[in-house]
Parts: sequence; structure tokens; C-alpha cells
Amino acid sequence: MVNKITVVGAGNVGATTAQRIAEKELARTVVMVDVMEGIPQGKALDQWQSAPIEGFDSRVIGTNTYDETHDSEIVVITAGIARKPGMSRDDLLNTNAGIVKQVSEQIRTTSPNAILIVVSNPLDVMSYVAMKVTGFPRQRVLGMAGVLDTARYRAFIAEALDVSVRDIQAMVLGGHGDTMVPLISYTSVSGIPITQLMPQAKLNAIVERTRGGGAEIVKHLKTGSAYYAPSAAAVQMCESIVFDQKRILPCAAWLEGEYGMSGLFLGVPCKLGRGGIEKIIEVELTREERDALAKSADAVREPMGAVKL
Ligand code: NAI
Ligand code: 2OP
Repeated sequence: MVNKITVVGAGNVGATTAQRIAEKELARTVVMVDVMEGIPQGKALDQWQSAPIEGFDSRVIGTNTYDETHDSEIVVITAGIARKPGMSRDDLLNTNAGIVKQVSEQIRTTSPNAILIVVSNPLDVMSYVAMKVTGFPRQRVLGMAGVLDTARYRAFIAEALDVSVRDIQAMVLGGHGDTMVPLISYTSVSGIPITQLMPQAKLNAIVERTRGGGAEIVKHLKTGSAYYAPSAAAVQMCESIVFDQKRILPCAAWLEGEYGMSGLFLGVPCKLGRGGIEKIIEVELTREERDALAKSADAVREPMGAVKL
């Protein structure tokens, strides 16, 4: 375990993330920070009181300031507003950019060596805001989206084939939006190419459902967006860093020439260890997948250009 992990934002994603981190004992202390007075304190106390039942010794603390976050090894940023029905992730742009900027300024001074995992939407642009404001190297700023999008894709395939989710290997790359790129050529079930197990039309329908996976949940919930799978995804990334597992997970990373692109955050396969992003893996793509990734990059560049820092 590490000494301290901070989760900024004690809303649905943040509080569930803190709870999962504590239950897995990834850090001695888990600090939840939020601007809402009493909310992080109350939720942290409630979570800490579950420790004797669940059997974990991580201490969960809630606060409205950054004093107790000093020298966190990892900071997960979930602060911001979430989508409501009819809103796209880009509708959140200006409000969340201001929030992530303010949070990043605090982290820059209180936890200058931290690895940042950004969750706030629009994800790829907020990761850019966090990197720009903190000035942290690209190895220490990553966005959570690909693990979530891939989990949705894997869940839908497992359901359609009536097989275990554990046996579905897959990867969704690109931006966290409607243009995301599920890689059919790298989708398999225990090594069997997915195209041998499912007709193309059914696979196409699953790809489309994955692209709309976040919106499908917003439509059900009406007052907010998904948080169980998103928090699980952020925590899987934390776990790979804390235990130096060197897992290859799709993360939003700042590209400097990889996949022929530079100057933006985009979902690509990354090796995650104690150093953060230790390597970006460049895989061969079909022509169709390359074109789709380029289109997805364009969809990220547009709101990135509109954000004012
Ligand atoms: P929520 O509304 O439940 O929680 C957000 C929390 O942030 C609130 O408690 C709010 O008080 C807090 N907050 C606002 N300004 C703050 C500041 N300056 N400092 C600290 N805390 C502040 O929203 P939820 O569902 O937790 O979602 C959080 C964000 O994560 C949203 O932007 C949402 O779109 C995004 N998200 C991203 C996903 C991804 O795949 N990247 C998946 C799910 C959510
Ligand atoms: C999701 O994909 C809203 O980005 C969030 O659920």
C-alpha cells in the first residue's frame, strides 16, 4: 500500500472511489476533499465505520481544505458537475474546466510528486487542464475512460455470448465520447477472435451500445451519471500503480508522436506502474481503426481549443 491517496470530489464517483480504495487497502489514509461543507466529513466517517465490518485498516478522512492531503502519492480528480439527460460531456466543458483548474492549483503545491488520475468530464480535455495547470510530466497525468468503456464493451459481449466476463479480452481506444474506438481486431474470448463467435451485425450493435454506454445510464438515472463502474475503473488504475503491477490498460495519455499524433490526450494502451504511465504501447491498427482514431482525436481537439485557462 501507499501512504496516502486523495480523492477530490465526494460525490457519486468520488465517494464510491474512496470506499473501494479503502476496502482494497491501497493506502494507509484516504482523504476525500469537497467544497460542500459536511459532505466529505460525513461520508468519510460513515465509510470508516464500515471498516470493522468489512475488515480494512485504511483510514478515511473527509475535509473541505487541502491541509490533510499533503504529499499524497495519488490524487483522483472527480470534482465537477455530472451529465443530466440531454447533456453531452462537452456541455460540462467550461464549468468543469474552472473546477479542475482550481483543484489542480491546490495539488500542484500540496502534492507536487503525485500521480493524477483525472475522471471529471469532458475527460480528455480535463486531463489537459490538469497537466497544464500542475505542470506535471505526462507520465504522472492520466485520464480514466478507456477502462470504463472497455468494461462496458466486455460486459455487453459476455452477456450476448452467455460467457464469463473474465474471458473477454478487449480494448477501447480514442476519446471518451461518441467517437470512441472499440478495437474489434483485438477483441477475443479466451483467445478466440470475436468475429468467429458473433455475426458482424450483432457486434456492430454492441459497438454502438458501448459508444452510448454513459448516456444509457444517464437516461435511466435522470439526475446524474454512472458511478459504480467508473469508480471501479479508476481504482483498477490506482491498484496497478500502487502495486507496480505494470498492467496494460487503456488510459487517456498525452501523446507526443504516438499513433502519429501530438499535443492532445487520447485513450491508448498504457503500462501502469509506480512511475505512472511507464510506456505507451503502439499496436497495429486496421485502416478503418486508424481512421476512426483520427476522427476521435478531432473530436477531442475541438473542445480542447475552446477551453480557456
Ligand atoms: P457528483 O455531482 O455526484 O459529484 C461531484 C462533486 O464534486 C460534488 O460533490 C461537488 O460538490 C464536488 N465539487 C465541485 N466543485 C468542487 C471543487 N472545486 N473542489 C472539490 N469538489 C468539488 O458527480 P459524479 O457523478 O461524482 O461525477 C463527477 C465527474 O466525473 C463529472 O464531471 C462526471 O461527468 C465525471 N465522470 C466521468 C467518467 C469518466 O469515464 N471519465 C465516468 C463518470 C463520471
Ligand atoms: C460515463 O461514461 C458520464 O462519462 C460518464 O458514464
